[in-house]
Amino acid sequence: MVAIEGRKRAMRLNLSNLVGCVMMVVTALVILNVVVILQSPRAEPDFFSQSQQSPDRDVSVFQPKAWGEDTRRPATAHNVTADLPRIKVKVISTQVCPGLSVEFSTSADGTFQRVDGYRALLYSAHLDEEEGVVRVVLLRLRTNPKGGLLCQGWYPGREGEPLEVVEGGIMDLPESHGRSFTTSLLTCPLAAKRDGSRLVAVSVVVKKCDVAPNLLFLSEVSNSTLRDFTVCVTPLNFRYSRAYELVEMIELNKVLGAQKIVFYNFSTGYNVDKALQYYTLRGDVEILPWHLPLRTDTWPPTKNPPEIHYFGQMAALNDCLYRYRASSRYIVFQDLDEFIVPKTYANWSEMVSVRQAKQPKVSAFQFRCVFFRKEWPKLAEDFEGNDVALRYNSVVLRHTLRETKILAHNVRSKFIVIPKKTKVVGIHTLWKHTGVIDKVPDSDALLHHYRSWESPNDQQPKLDDRTLVDKFGPRLVKKLAKSWEALSDIPLDVDLKSYGTSV
Ligand SMILES: *[C@@H]1O[C@H](CO)[C@@H](O)[C@H](O)[C@H]1NC(C)=O
Ligand SMILES: *[C@@H]1O[C@H](CO)[C@@H](O)[C@H](O)[C@H]1NC(C)=O
Ligand SMILES: *[C@@H]1O[C@H](CO)[C@@H](O)[C@H](O)[C@H]1NC(C)=O
Ligand SMILES: *[C@@H]1O[C@H](CO)[C@@H](O)[C@H](O)[C@H]1NC(C)=O
Repeated sequence: MVAIEGRKRAMRLNLSNLVGCVMMVVTALVILNVVVILQSPRAEPDFFSQSQQSPDRDVSVFQPKAWGEDTRRPATAHNVTADLPRIKVKVISTQVCPGLSVEFSTSADGTFQRVDGYRALLYSAHLDEEEGVVRVVLLRLRTNPKGGLLCQGWYPGREGEPLEVVEGGIMDLPESHGRSFTTSLLTCPLAAKRDGSRLVAVSVVVKKCDVAPNLLFLSEVSNSTLRDFTVCVTPLNFRYSRAYELVEMIELNKVLGAQKIVFYNFSTGYNVDKALQYYTLRGDVEILPWHLPLRTDTWPPTKNPPEIHYFGQMAALNDCLYRYRASSRYIVFQDLDEFIVPKTYANWSEMVSVRQAKQPKVSAFQFRCVFFRKEWPKLAEDFEGNDVALRYNSVVLRHTLRETKILAHNVRSKFIVIPKKTKVVGIHTLWKHTGVIDKVPDSDALLHHYRSWESPNDQQPKLDDRTLVDKFGPRLVKKLAKSWEALSDIPLDVDLKSYGTSV
Protein backbone atom coordinates (compact mmCIF):
# COMPACT_ATOMS: atom_id res chain seq x y z
CA MET A 1 0.00 0.00 0.00
CA VAL A 2 2.83 2.35 0.93
CA ALA A 3 4.63 1.33 -2.19
CA ILE A 4 1.59 1.88 -4.32
CA GLU A 5 0.95 5.31 -2.85
CA GLY A 6 4.59 6.32 -3.18
CA ARG A 7 4.65 5.02 -6.68
CA LYS A 8 1.48 6.81 -7.68
CA ARG A 9 2.84 10.02 -6.33
CA ALA A 10 6.06 9.56 -8.19
CA MET A 11 4.20 8.92 -11.38
CA ARG A 12 2.00 11.92 -10.73
CA LEU A 13 5.14 13.94 -10.38
CA ASN A 14 6.59 12.57 -13.57
CA LEU A 15 3.40 13.27 -15.38
CA SER A 16 2.35 16.39 -13.60
CA ASN A 17 4.11 18.56 -16.14
CA LEU A 18 1.72 16.97 -18.53
CA VAL A 19 -1.35 18.25 -16.70
CA GLY A 20 -3.15 19.77 -19.56
CA CYS A 21 -0.70 18.01 -21.80
CA VAL A 22 -1.89 14.56 -20.88
CA MET A 23 -5.07 15.08 -22.80
CA MET A 24 -3.13 16.74 -25.55
CA VAL A 25 -0.70 13.86 -25.64
CA VAL A 26 -3.48 11.33 -25.80
CA THR A 27 -5.15 13.21 -28.62
CA ALA A 28 -1.88 13.87 -30.36
CA LEU A 29 -0.77 10.30 -30.10
CA VAL A 30 -4.01 9.20 -31.66
CA ILE A 31 -3.65 11.79 -34.42
CA LEU A 32 -0.11 10.66 -35.02
CA ASN A 33 -1.22 7.12 -35.39
CA VAL A 34 0.61 6.09 -32.34
CA VAL A 35 0.18 2.57 -31.31
CA VAL A 36 1.02 1.72 -27.80
CA ILE A 37 1.94 -1.76 -26.99
CA LEU A 38 2.07 -2.80 -23.43
CA GLN A 39 4.11 -5.92 -23.08
CA SER A 40 4.14 -8.14 -20.10
CA PRO A 41 7.36 -8.18 -18.10
CA ARG A 42 10.17 -10.17 -19.63
CA ALA A 43 13.56 -11.16 -18.45
CA GLU A 44 16.66 -9.52 -19.82
CA PRO A 45 20.18 -10.76 -19.41
CA ASP A 46 21.87 -7.40 -18.97
CA PHE A 47 20.46 -3.99 -18.21
CA PHE A 48 22.79 -2.43 -20.74
CA SER A 49 22.34 -4.92 -23.56
CA GLN A 50 20.92 -3.79 -26.87
CA SER A 51 17.16 -3.91 -26.87
CA GLN A 52 15.77 -6.73 -28.91
CA GLN A 53 13.11 -5.91 -31.42
CA SER A 54 10.45 -8.38 -30.49
CA PRO A 55 7.14 -8.84 -32.26
CA ASP A 56 4.42 -6.54 -31.00
CA ARG A 57 1.83 -8.12 -28.78
CA ASP A 58 -1.20 -7.11 -26.76
CA VAL A 59 -1.96 -3.93 -28.63
CA SER A 60 -3.96 -1.68 -26.37
CA VAL A 61 -5.00 1.94 -26.27
CA PHE A 62 -2.93 4.46 -24.42
CA GLN A 63 -3.95 4.48 -20.79
CA PRO A 64 -1.99 6.82 -18.56
CA LYS A 65 -3.20 4.98 -15.49
CA ALA A 66 -1.32 1.91 -16.58
CA TRP A 67 1.84 3.89 -15.85
CA GLY A 68 0.99 4.32 -12.23
CA GLU A 69 0.88 0.66 -11.46
CA ASP A 70 3.28 -0.56 -8.88
CA THR A 71 5.59 -3.09 -10.41
CA ARG A 72 8.42 -2.95 -7.95
CA ARG A 73 9.89 -5.91 -6.22
CA PRO A 74 10.86 -6.00 -2.55
CA ALA A 75 13.38 -3.41 -1.43
CA THR A 76 16.01 -6.05 -0.90
CA ALA A 77 16.19 -6.71 -4.63
CA HIS A 78 17.95 -3.79 -6.24
CA ASN A 79 18.84 -5.79 -9.28
CA VAL A 80 16.46 -4.48 -11.88
CA THR A 81 18.18 -6.19 -14.78
CA ALA A 82 15.38 -8.70 -14.86
CA ASP A 83 11.63 -8.37 -15.30
CA LEU A 84 11.46 -4.94 -16.84
CA PRO A 85 7.92 -4.17 -17.84
CA ARG A 86 8.04 -2.48 -21.19
CA ILE A 87 5.74 -0.06 -22.89
CA LYS A 88 6.29 0.41 -26.57
CA VAL A 89 5.17 3.50 -28.38
CA LYS A 90 5.33 3.38 -32.12
CA VAL A 91 5.34 6.71 -33.87
CA ILE A 92 4.62 6.08 -37.49
CA SER A 93 4.66 9.47 -39.11
CA THR A 94 7.93 11.22 -38.42
CA GLN A 95 9.56 12.46 -41.63
CA VAL A 96 13.01 13.05 -40.20
CA CYS A 97 13.18 9.37 -39.34
CA PRO A 98 10.51 7.59 -41.34
CA GLY A 99 8.99 4.67 -39.54
CA LEU A 100 10.85 5.34 -36.32
CA SER A 101 9.29 3.56 -33.43
CA VAL A 102 10.09 4.75 -29.97
CA GLU A 103 10.23 2.06 -27.43
CA PHE A 104 9.37 3.15 -23.93
CA SER A 105 10.90 0.97 -21.30
CA THR A 106 10.49 1.82 -17.68
CA SER A 107 12.66 -0.06 -15.30
CA ALA A 108 10.83 -2.12 -12.72
CA ASP A 109 11.37 0.83 -10.42
CA GLY A 110 10.16 3.37 -12.88
CA THR A 111 13.36 5.30 -12.72
CA PHE A 112 16.58 4.47 -14.49
CA GLN A 113 16.55 3.83 -18.22
CA ARG A 114 19.31 2.69 -20.52
CA VAL A 115 20.81 3.87 -23.79
CA ASP A 116 21.63 1.51 -26.64
CA GLY A 117 25.33 1.45 -27.53
CA TYR A 118 26.38 3.58 -24.58
CA ARG A 119 26.65 2.43 -21.00
CA ALA A 120 24.63 4.98 -19.11
CA LEU A 121 21.60 5.16 -16.86
CA LEU A 122 19.20 8.01 -17.51
CA TYR A 123 17.16 9.33 -14.62
CA SER A 124 15.33 12.51 -15.55
CA ALA A 125 14.98 15.39 -17.99
CA HIS A 126 14.42 18.99 -16.96
CA LEU A 127 13.43 21.82 -19.25
CA ASP A 128 15.07 25.23 -18.88
CA GLU A 129 12.76 27.51 -20.82
CA GLU A 130 14.96 30.57 -20.47
CA GLU A 131 18.01 28.92 -21.98
CA GLY A 132 16.03 26.75 -24.39
CA VAL A 133 17.72 23.56 -23.24
CA VAL A 134 16.80 20.26 -21.65
CA ARG A 135 19.16 18.82 -19.08
CA VAL A 136 19.21 15.08 -18.67
CA VAL A 137 20.53 13.74 -15.37
CA LEU A 138 22.42 10.50 -15.95
CA LEU A 139 25.08 8.17 -14.64
CA ARG A 140 27.59 7.08 -17.24
CA LEU A 141 30.48 4.66 -17.36
CA ARG A 142 33.57 6.82 -17.55
CA THR A 143 35.22 4.74 -20.26
CA ASN A 144 32.48 5.74 -22.70
CA PRO A 145 33.44 8.39 -25.25
CA LYS A 146 32.74 11.88 -23.92
CA GLY A 147 30.65 12.87 -26.92
CA GLY A 148 28.32 11.19 -29.31
CA LEU A 149 24.99 11.34 -27.56
CA LEU A 150 22.02 12.72 -29.43
CA CYS A 151 18.70 13.88 -28.04
CA GLN A 152 15.45 13.13 -29.80
CA GLY A 153 12.96 15.77 -28.74
CA TRP A 154 9.31 14.83 -28.97
CA TYR A 155 6.69 17.46 -29.84
CA PRO A 156 3.67 15.19 -30.14
CA GLY A 157 1.24 17.94 -31.11
CA ARG A 158 3.33 19.25 -33.97
CA GLU A 159 1.76 18.58 -37.29
CA GLY A 160 3.94 16.94 -39.90
CA GLU A 161 7.03 16.49 -37.76
CA PRO A 162 6.90 15.56 -34.10
CA LEU A 163 10.63 14.86 -33.86
CA GLU A 164 13.70 17.05 -33.59
CA VAL A 165 17.12 15.49 -33.18
CA VAL A 166 19.99 17.54 -31.73
CA GLU A 167 23.49 16.88 -30.46
CA GLY A 168 23.82 16.77 -26.68
CA GLY A 169 26.76 18.07 -24.66
CA ILE A 170 28.06 15.97 -21.78
CA MET A 171 29.36 17.51 -18.58
CA ASP A 172 30.68 15.17 -15.90
CA LEU A 173 30.04 16.39 -12.39
CA PRO A 174 32.80 16.33 -9.78
CA GLU A 175 32.95 14.16 -6.65
CA SER A 176 32.76 10.78 -8.38
CA HIS A 177 35.61 9.52 -6.14
CA GLY A 178 37.20 7.40 -8.85
CA ARG A 179 34.22 5.07 -9.22
CA SER A 180 33.56 3.54 -12.62
CA PHE A 181 30.33 5.51 -13.04
CA THR A 182 30.09 9.28 -12.78
CA THR A 183 27.12 11.63 -12.61
CA SER A 184 26.73 13.72 -15.76
CA LEU A 185 24.43 16.30 -17.21
CA LEU A 186 23.55 15.97 -20.88
CA THR A 187 22.46 19.34 -22.22
CA CYS A 188 20.20 19.20 -25.28
CA PRO A 189 19.46 22.44 -27.15
CA LEU A 190 15.74 21.86 -27.57
CA ALA A 191 13.23 24.69 -27.52
CA ALA A 192 10.22 24.43 -25.24
CA LYS A 193 7.91 24.92 -28.24
CA ARG A 194 7.95 24.22 -31.98
CA ASP A 195 5.16 25.67 -34.13
CA GLY A 196 3.03 26.08 -31.04
CA SER A 197 3.54 22.51 -29.87
CA ARG A 198 5.20 21.82 -26.57
CA LEU A 199 8.19 19.61 -26.07
CA VAL A 200 6.95 16.74 -23.94
CA ALA A 201 9.73 14.17 -23.74
CA VAL A 202 13.24 13.33 -24.91
CA SER A 203 15.00 10.12 -25.86
CA VAL A 204 18.75 9.69 -25.80
CA VAL A 205 20.39 7.84 -28.70
CA VAL A 206 23.75 7.28 -30.34
CA LYS A 207 22.50 7.38 -33.95
CA LYS A 208 20.00 9.91 -35.19
CA CYS A 209 17.18 7.55 -36.05
CA ASP A 210 17.88 4.87 -33.46
CA VAL A 211 14.93 3.35 -31.75
CA ALA A 212 15.58 4.45 -28.18
CA PRO A 213 14.96 2.08 -25.30
CA ASN A 214 14.28 5.17 -23.21
CA LEU A 215 11.82 8.01 -23.04
CA LEU A 216 12.11 10.72 -20.42
CA PHE A 217 9.12 12.93 -19.77
CA LEU A 218 10.06 16.44 -18.73
CA SER A 219 9.78 17.11 -15.02
CA GLU A 220 7.41 19.76 -13.77
CA VAL A 221 8.26 23.27 -14.91
CA SER A 222 5.31 25.17 -13.53
CA ASN A 223 6.07 28.04 -11.17
CA SER A 224 2.41 28.59 -10.40
CA THR A 225 2.77 27.27 -6.87
CA LEU A 226 6.00 28.94 -5.89
CA ARG A 227 7.11 28.03 -2.38
CA ASP A 228 9.99 29.34 -0.32
CA PHE A 229 11.96 26.34 0.91
CA THR A 230 12.39 22.84 -0.50
CA VAL A 231 14.81 20.54 1.30
CA CYS A 232 16.74 17.95 -0.77
CA VAL A 233 18.10 14.90 1.02
CA THR A 234 20.68 12.33 -0.06
CA PRO A 235 19.20 8.91 -1.05
CA LEU A 236 17.87 6.88 1.90
CA ASN A 237 19.88 3.67 2.06
CA PHE A 238 20.80 0.57 4.08
CA ARG A 239 17.10 -0.06 4.81
CA TYR A 240 16.95 3.29 6.55
CA SER A 241 14.92 2.59 9.68
CA ARG A 242 15.54 5.39 12.15
CA ALA A 243 11.96 6.65 12.14
CA TYR A 244 12.62 8.69 15.30
CA GLU A 245 15.35 10.60 13.43
CA LEU A 246 13.26 10.99 10.27
CA VAL A 247 10.15 12.28 12.04
CA GLU A 248 12.19 14.77 14.03
CA MET A 249 14.05 15.83 10.89
CA ILE A 250 10.81 16.54 9.04
CA GLU A 251 9.18 18.34 11.96
CA LEU A 252 12.20 20.48 12.82
CA ASN A 253 12.75 21.47 9.21
CA LYS A 254 9.12 22.52 9.00
CA VAL A 255 9.52 24.63 12.13
CA LEU A 256 12.59 26.26 10.55
CA GLY A 257 10.68 27.02 7.35
CA ALA A 258 10.68 23.99 5.03
CA GLN A 259 7.54 23.56 2.93
CA LYS A 260 8.57 20.40 1.09
CA ILE A 261 11.15 17.76 1.93
CA VAL A 262 12.32 15.53 -0.89
CA PHE A 263 13.66 12.02 -0.33
CA TYR A 264 15.18 9.63 -2.85
CA ASN A 265 14.24 6.07 -1.99
CA PHE A 266 17.08 3.61 -2.48
CA SER A 267 16.09 1.46 0.46
CA THR A 268 13.98 1.98 3.55
CA GLY A 269 12.67 0.06 6.52
CA TYR A 270 8.96 -0.61 6.93
CA ASN A 271 8.56 1.86 9.79
CA VAL A 272 10.18 4.65 7.79
CA ASP A 273 7.94 3.77 4.83
CA LYS A 274 4.87 4.27 6.98
CA ALA A 275 6.14 7.57 8.35
CA LEU A 276 6.96 8.75 4.84
CA GLN A 277 3.53 7.75 3.63
CA TYR A 278 1.96 9.76 6.46
CA TYR A 279 3.92 12.88 5.52
CA THR A 280 3.41 12.36 1.79
CA LEU A 281 -0.35 12.32 2.24
CA ARG A 282 -0.10 15.56 4.19
CA GLY A 283 1.88 17.16 1.38
CA ASP A 284 5.05 17.71 3.42
CA VAL A 285 7.15 15.13 1.66
CA GLU A 286 7.91 14.01 -1.87
CA ILE A 287 9.41 10.57 -2.49
CA LEU A 288 11.30 9.77 -5.67
CA PRO A 289 12.19 6.16 -6.41
CA TRP A 290 15.95 5.66 -6.61
CA HIS A 291 16.60 1.98 -7.15
CA LEU A 292 19.98 2.11 -8.84
CA PRO A 293 20.73 -0.96 -10.97
CA LEU A 294 24.43 -0.69 -10.10
CA ARG A 295 26.63 -2.23 -7.48
CA THR A 296 26.38 0.09 -4.49
CA ASP A 297 27.79 0.20 -0.98
CA THR A 298 26.60 -2.64 1.21
CA TRP A 299 26.69 -3.33 4.92
CA PRO A 300 28.86 -5.15 5.78
CA PRO A 301 31.13 -3.94 2.96
CA THR A 302 32.26 -6.46 0.33
CA LYS A 303 35.50 -6.74 -1.62
CA ASN A 304 33.91 -5.45 -4.80
CA PRO A 305 33.97 -1.68 -4.79
CA PRO A 306 30.69 0.08 -5.55
CA GLU A 307 30.27 1.23 -9.14
CA ILE A 308 29.03 4.65 -8.07
CA HIS A 309 29.94 6.85 -5.14
CA TYR A 310 27.53 6.73 -2.21
CA PHE A 311 24.29 5.65 -3.88
CA GLY A 312 24.57 8.21 -6.65
CA GLN A 313 24.24 11.08 -4.20
CA MET A 314 25.51 13.71 -6.68
CA ALA A 315 22.91 12.69 -9.25
CA ALA A 316 20.08 12.83 -6.72
CA LEU A 317 21.06 16.25 -5.37
CA ASN A 318 21.45 17.79 -8.81
CA ASP A 319 18.22 16.18 -9.98
CA CYS A 320 16.55 17.82 -7.00
CA LEU A 321 18.08 21.19 -7.89
CA TYR A 322 16.71 21.10 -11.44
CA ARG A 323 13.39 19.45 -10.58
CA TYR A 324 12.37 22.19 -8.13
CA ARG A 325 14.16 25.08 -9.85
CA ALA A 326 10.95 26.72 -11.02
CA SER A 327 8.76 25.87 -8.07
CA SER A 328 10.97 26.86 -5.14
CA ARG A 329 12.63 30.19 -4.35
CA TYR A 330 15.29 28.51 -2.22
CA ILE A 331 16.55 24.94 -2.02
CA VAL A 332 18.17 23.63 1.14
CA PHE A 333 20.79 20.87 0.92
CA GLN A 334 21.44 19.04 4.17
CA ASP A 335 21.49 15.49 5.52
CA LEU A 336 19.17 13.73 7.93
CA ASP A 337 21.42 14.48 10.89
CA GLU A 338 22.14 18.11 10.02
CA PHE A 339 20.17 21.28 10.66
CA ILE A 340 20.78 24.84 9.56
CA VAL A 341 19.97 26.67 12.78
CA PRO A 342 19.61 30.46 12.69
CA LYS A 343 20.72 32.24 15.84
CA THR A 344 19.99 35.89 15.22
CA TYR A 345 16.99 35.32 12.94
CA ALA A 346 13.53 33.96 13.69
CA ASN A 347 13.70 31.35 10.92
CA TRP A 348 15.17 30.62 7.47
CA SER A 349 12.80 33.00 5.80
CA GLU A 350 13.86 36.01 7.84
CA MET A 351 17.49 34.97 7.52
CA VAL A 352 17.57 34.82 3.72
CA SER A 353 15.57 37.99 3.22
CA VAL A 354 17.73 40.05 5.58
CA ARG A 355 20.98 38.69 4.14
CA GLN A 356 19.85 38.94 0.53
CA ALA A 357 18.95 42.59 1.04
CA LYS A 358 22.57 43.18 2.09
CA GLN A 359 24.01 41.12 -0.78
CA PRO A 360 21.66 41.13 -3.78
CA LYS A 361 24.08 39.13 -5.95
CA VAL A 362 23.90 36.13 -3.64
CA SER A 363 23.48 32.71 -5.25
CA ALA A 364 23.83 30.66 -2.06
CA PHE A 365 24.17 30.89 1.70
CA GLN A 366 26.82 28.64 3.18
CA PHE A 367 26.88 27.54 6.81
CA ARG A 368 29.74 26.40 9.05
CA CYS A 369 29.46 22.96 10.56
CA VAL A 370 29.76 22.13 14.25
CA PHE A 371 29.53 18.66 15.81
CA PHE A 372 27.06 17.82 18.54
CA ARG A 373 28.51 14.51 19.64
CA LYS A 374 26.15 11.69 20.43
CA GLU A 375 28.55 10.37 23.09
CA TRP A 376 27.74 13.49 25.04
CA PRO A 377 24.06 13.17 25.91
CA LYS A 378 22.70 16.10 27.87
CA LEU A 379 19.18 17.42 28.18
CA ALA A 380 18.75 21.16 28.56
CA GLU A 381 18.11 21.96 32.22
CA ASP A 382 14.58 23.05 33.07
CA PHE A 383 13.26 22.51 29.57
CA GLU A 384 9.59 21.57 29.77
CA GLY A 385 9.68 19.25 26.81
CA ASN A 386 12.31 16.87 28.18
CA ASP A 387 9.81 14.06 28.82
CA VAL A 388 8.69 14.20 25.19
CA ALA A 389 12.31 14.39 24.08
CA LEU A 390 13.08 11.18 25.97
CA ARG A 391 9.91 9.38 24.92
CA TYR A 392 10.52 9.91 21.21
CA ASN A 393 14.28 9.67 21.35
CA SER A 394 14.80 13.22 20.12
CA VAL A 395 18.36 13.59 18.90
CA VAL A 396 18.54 17.37 18.97
CA LEU A 397 16.92 17.82 22.38
CA ARG A 398 18.97 15.10 24.06
CA HIS A 399 22.29 16.47 22.79
CA THR A 400 22.93 20.05 23.79
CA LEU A 401 26.70 19.77 24.13
CA ARG A 402 28.78 20.64 21.12
CA GLU A 403 32.44 20.89 20.27
CA THR A 404 33.88 24.38 20.65
CA LYS A 405 35.63 23.91 17.32
CA ILE A 406 33.58 25.25 14.43
CA LEU A 407 34.72 23.99 11.04
CA ALA A 408 35.63 26.42 8.26
CA HIS A 409 33.30 27.26 5.39
CA ASN A 410 33.72 24.51 2.74
CA VAL A 411 34.63 21.88 5.34
CA ARG A 412 31.50 19.76 5.76
CA SER A 413 29.45 22.89 5.32
CA LYS A 414 25.94 22.82 3.87
CA PHE A 415 24.01 25.48 2.03
CA ILE A 416 20.78 27.04 0.83
CA VAL A 417 20.79 27.99 -2.85
CA ILE A 418 18.81 30.26 -5.09
CA PRO A 419 18.16 27.65 -7.78
CA LYS A 420 17.90 30.10 -10.68
CA LYS A 421 21.49 31.13 -10.01
CA THR A 422 22.84 27.64 -9.38
CA LYS A 423 24.06 25.23 -12.04
CA VAL A 424 25.79 22.41 -10.16
CA VAL A 425 25.71 21.59 -6.46
CA GLY A 426 28.20 19.42 -4.64
CA ILE A 427 28.02 17.81 -1.23
CA HIS A 428 29.54 20.69 0.74
CA THR A 429 29.66 23.56 -1.73
CA LEU A 430 28.45 24.81 -5.11
CA TRP A 431 30.50 23.84 -8.15
CA LYS A 432 28.86 26.12 -10.67
CA HIS A 433 26.77 29.20 -10.05
CA THR A 434 26.34 32.74 -11.29
CA GLY A 435 26.58 34.87 -8.19
CA VAL A 436 28.24 35.31 -4.85
CA ILE A 437 28.31 32.77 -2.01
CA ASP A 438 27.31 34.38 1.25
CA LYS A 439 29.50 32.78 3.89
CA VAL A 440 27.16 33.15 6.83
CA PRO A 441 29.13 33.88 10.03
CA ASP A 442 28.81 31.46 12.94
CA SER A 443 27.44 34.28 15.09
CA ASP A 444 24.35 34.37 12.84
CA ALA A 445 23.69 30.69 12.11
CA LEU A 446 25.35 27.30 12.32
CA LEU A 447 24.99 23.89 10.73
CA HIS A 448 24.35 21.54 13.66
CA HIS A 449 25.65 18.08 12.83
CA TYR A 450 24.57 15.34 15.26
CA ARG A 451 26.88 12.38 15.04
CA SER A 452 28.84 9.73 16.84
CA TRP A 453 32.56 10.24 16.82
CA GLU A 454 35.00 7.61 15.55
CA SER A 455 37.29 8.16 18.53
CA PRO A 456 34.97 8.73 21.49
CA ASN A 457 37.83 9.41 23.89
CA ASP A 458 39.14 12.26 21.80
CA GLN A 459 39.35 15.23 24.17
CA GLN A 460 37.58 18.00 22.30
CA PRO A 461 36.52 20.85 24.53
CA LYS A 462 32.74 20.96 24.94
CA LEU A 463 30.29 23.77 25.11
CA ASP A 464 26.66 24.00 26.20
CA ASP A 465 24.58 25.27 23.28
CA ARG A 466 20.88 25.82 23.97
CA THR A 467 20.11 27.84 20.82
CA LEU A 468 18.01 25.15 19.22
CA VAL A 469 16.23 24.07 22.40
CA ASP A 470 15.34 27.59 23.46
CA LYS A 471 14.31 28.91 20.07
CA PHE A 472 12.66 25.92 18.45
CA GLY A 473 12.32 23.28 21.19
CA PRO A 474 8.83 24.21 22.44
CA ARG A 475 7.31 24.04 18.96
CA LEU A 476 9.25 20.90 18.11
CA VAL A 477 8.01 18.91 21.11
CA LYS A 478 4.38 19.76 20.31
CA LYS A 479 4.86 18.51 16.78
CA LEU A 480 6.71 15.37 17.88
CA ALA A 481 3.96 14.45 20.30
CA LYS A 482 1.27 15.00 17.68
CA SER A 483 2.99 13.04 14.91
CA TRP A 484 3.97 10.13 17.11
CA GLU A 485 0.40 9.90 18.28
CA ALA A 486 -0.63 9.45 14.65
CA LEU A 487 2.25 7.03 14.07
CA SER A 488 1.81 5.05 17.26
CA ASP A 489 1.70 1.75 15.38
CA ILE A 490 5.30 1.92 14.13
CA PRO A 491 8.53 1.40 16.07
CA LEU A 492 10.95 4.30 16.56
CA ASP A 493 13.70 2.13 15.08
CA VAL A 494 14.12 -1.34 13.60
CA ASP A 495 17.06 -3.64 14.16
CA LEU A 496 18.60 -4.03 10.71
CA LYS A 497 19.41 -7.68 11.44
CA SER A 498 15.70 -8.38 11.05
CA TYR A 499 16.16 -7.67 7.32
CA GLY A 500 18.83 -10.36 6.90
CA THR A 501 22.59 -10.57 7.12
CA SER A 502 23.40 -7.72 4.77
CA VAL A 503 21.63 -4.53 3.75
C1 LIG B 1 10.76 2.64 -1.22
O1 LIG B 1 11.07 1.63 -2.14
C2 LIG B 1 10.74 0.33 -1.69
C3 LIG B 1 11.24 -0.66 -2.72
O2 LIG B 1 10.66 -0.47 -3.93
C4 LIG B 1 9.26 0.23 -1.48
O3 LIG B 1 8.92 -1.05 -0.98
C5 LIG B 1 8.84 1.30 -0.49
O4 LIG B 1 7.45 1.27 -0.31
C6 LIG B 1 9.27 2.66 -0.96
N1 LIG B 1 8.95 3.64 0.06
C7 LIG B 1 8.28 4.77 -0.19
C8 LIG B 1 7.97 5.61 0.98
O5 LIG B 1 7.96 5.12 -1.30
C1 LIG C 1 20.86 -9.56 -11.76
O1 LIG C 1 19.88 -10.44 -12.29
C2 LIG C 1 20.33 -11.13 -13.44
C3 LIG C 1 19.13 -11.88 -14.02
O2 LIG C 1 18.39 -12.54 -13.02
C4 LIG C 1 21.48 -12.06 -13.03
O3 LIG C 1 21.95 -12.77 -14.16
C5 LIG C 1 22.61 -11.20 -12.49
O4 LIG C 1 23.65 -12.00 -12.02
C6 LIG C 1 22.11 -10.32 -11.33
N1 LIG C 1 23.16 -9.39 -10.95
C7 LIG C 1 23.48 -9.15 -9.68
C8 LIG C 1 24.55 -8.12 -9.47
O5 LIG C 1 22.94 -9.70 -8.74
C1 LIG D 1 6.74 32.14 -13.83
O1 LIG D 1 7.28 31.90 -15.12
C2 LIG D 1 6.86 32.82 -16.10
C3 LIG D 1 7.38 32.33 -17.44
O2 LIG D 1 8.73 31.99 -17.38
C4 LIG D 1 7.38 34.22 -15.72
O3 LIG D 1 6.95 35.15 -16.65
C5 LIG D 1 6.84 34.58 -14.34
O4 LIG D 1 7.41 35.81 -13.93
C6 LIG D 1 7.18 33.51 -13.33
N1 LIG D 1 6.53 33.80 -12.07
C7 LIG D 1 7.20 33.89 -10.93
C8 LIG D 1 6.37 34.19 -9.72
O5 LIG D 1 8.41 33.73 -10.85
C1 LIG E 1 9.47 33.57 10.15
O1 LIG E 1 9.64 34.64 11.04
C2 LIG E 1 8.95 35.82 10.69
C3 LIG E 1 9.38 36.93 11.64
O2 LIG E 1 9.17 36.56 12.99
C4 LIG E 1 7.46 35.55 10.72
O3 LIG E 1 6.74 36.70 10.32
C5 LIG E 1 7.15 34.40 9.75
O4 LIG E 1 5.79 34.05 9.83
C6 LIG E 1 8.00 33.19 10.07
N1 LIG E 1 7.84 32.20 9.03
C7 LIG E 1 7.67 30.90 9.28
C8 LIG E 1 7.54 30.01 8.10
O5 LIG E 1 7.63 30.46 10.42
